[in-house]
Formats: sequence, C-alpha cells, structure tokens
Amino acid sequence: MKLLQHLFENNHRWVEEVETENPGFFQRLAQGQSPEYLWIGCSDSRIPANEVVGLMPGELFVHRNVANLVIHTDMSLLSVLQYAVEVLQVKHVIICGHYGCGGVMGAMKGESLGLIDNWLRFIKDIYHRNEELLDSLDEQHKADRLCELNVIQQVANLVHTTIVQDAWQRGQNLAVHGWIYDIKDGKLRDLNVCISAPEQLNEVYRMDVRID
Ligand code: CO
Repeated sequence: MKLLQHLFENNHRWVEEVETENPGFFQRLAQGQSPEYLWIGCSDSRIPANEVVGLMPGELFVHRNVANLVIHTDMSLLSVLQYAVEVLQVKHVIICGHYGCGGVMGAMKGESLGLIDNWLRFIKDIYHRNEELLDSLDEQHKADRLCELNVIQQVANLVHTTIVQDAWQRGQNLAVHGWIYDIKDGKLRDLNVCISAPEQLNEVYRMDVRID
C-alpha cells in the first residue's frame, strides 16, 4: 500500500479541479514562471502563502523559515532573493510575519528549545534593543509588538542586502513590504514600512507601529 495515499488522492482531485476551471493550466505553467512577488514568510503551517493572498501557482515565489528571518549569511535565503530579483525580476518582496509566532514567543522565553535557539537568537537581539518599550507592555501586547518589530527588522535587513541595493542601483523597480498576518481572523495587515528606494533606507527604523 502506498504511504500517505490520501495526499496523492488530494493531489489528483486538486489537479482535476484546476484543469476543469482552467483547461491546459499545467501545460501553460510548464513553459515558465514570471511571478511579480517574492514572499518571505514563517514556516508555520497556518499561513499558506498562496492561499492568504489568493494567488495561483506561478504567481508567487516563496521562501519560508522559522519566524521569517532575513539573515545576511543565510545562503538559502540569499539565493532565493538573488534569483527572484535578478532572474525573475519580481517587483515586490513581501516579508510577512504573524501574530502568535512560535519562533518569536520562543525567543521571549528563557527556556532552551535546542538547536533552534541559535536561530532565535536574532529575535532575542531585537527584544534586547527594544527592551524598554516591550517591558512596559503586558504579555499579550509584548508578544504582538515583538512579532511586528521582527518584521520591521527583517525589512531593514533585506533592503541592506547587496542584492536589493544593486537592483536599485541598476534602476530596477523593486519595493519591499512588511506585513503581518493574524491567525485569529485570517487577515493581513500592512505595517506601512514599504521601502522602494535607497533614499528611504533610514525610514525603516523610524516607523511607528501601532497596535490597534
Ligand atoms: Co511563526
């Protein structure tokens, strides 16, 4: 018996649904991709990138890791970014965090989770830099705020990569956005930290993120 049979059945059903709605869809997609967007999101199973923005296969280039971090030594992320910007010529990079992020909450706690502590260390640094503000909030708001600050920091990290800087230098249109997803209602919120030119670089640190 085939393992995970139900997933193959789901897949066949999905193919049929897509082909019924859009005959020849996969044949056309096989010719190539030209997505306009690169999505950098959390690995959390509750945030399926394409679904939450209503995009079909071929429309969204995706990179996901724990807590949607942009780390300058992460070859996997840099390769995705370079390919998306220079080869696919995406016009928008969306960094999307989410409230209730296990990575962010793990970083807030003192307890060790194993190897992942090394990855979450980057979020601890953000906490440390904003300690005064965060410690003035109750636990729920503190967690929400750190999820938002994490996205803003990752937008800053991304626009400081040579890949993004070089794209702007070449005159390429490229905007970097910071969004947050609420797993409680399925809605996206724009954190208003869009950066689309090198002159705006310092703005990312001045943005005021409000908690409604
Ligand atoms: Co998460």
